[in-house]
Amino acid sequence: MENPEMQITPMPRIGDKAPEFKAVTTQGPINFPEDYKGSWVILFSHPADFTPVCTSEFITFATLEDKFAQANCKLVGLSVDGLYSHIAWLRTIKEKIEYKGMKDVEVKFPLIEDITMDVAKKYGMIQPGESNTKAVRAVFYIDPKGIIRAIIYYPLSTGRNFDELYRALIAMQTADAFSVATPADWQPGDDVIVPPAGSCGVAKDRMEGKEQLKCYDWFFCTKPIDKETVLNTILKK
Ligand code: BEZ
Repeated sequence: MENPEMQITPMPRIGDKAPEFKAVTTQGPINFPEDYKGSWVILFSHPADFTPVCTSEFITFATLEDKFAQANCKLVGLSVDGLYSHIAWLRTIKEKIEYKGMKDVEVKFPLIEDITMDVAKKYGMIQPGESNTKAVRAVFYIDPKGIIRAIIYYPLSTGRNFDELYRALIAMQTADAFSVATPADWQPGDDVIVPPAGSCGVAKDRMEGKEQLKCYDWFFCTKPIDKETVLNTILKK
């Protein structure tokens, strides 16, 4: 007899290559992640079209699309609904719904139809303890080289915080651009964490007093990078 455990696709992890797939979307066919090479992309799932939490999320994300685009990040949605459901739901959002002052909202990013659940299963978006028939609220950050850099999962009942999704994107881009890490609740303009003493280049700069370091202990040092430097480096002009 077949062991059901063997049928479960391993969940993708941070540092893995984003699993490949071809799909039909509200913006035409896509070949993922190939079509997104050179950009960051957020692949996110929602449980179902025509549901309230998902509607509030789509209106919010679509309103922020240009802000993510400025940070070289494209958005791709997915649910296990079909294309005609997606099209009807997005039309309803545009024509009928005003939410927190956001109205006439056009969702321009692609929304994948995944009635076979092939993509959702590949990305570990079907979590049977939560639902066998709907994707959980998953968020995959994929970098310009097609590598998964962060994964966030929320249950069906809880709408995501899109300010945090943006903050995490900018934090990862800052870490890459400046070879630093970012502390709890970091926002552009806050101090960043520098590698421990002894790391290449850092120790020399410290000895020469080039860095304005603040050390809480030997293993925990920060330095300032002003907001303009971060944003001018990361955001498109
Ligand atoms: C919602 O988006 O409102 C929702 C979807 C599926 C289950 C529960 C809530």
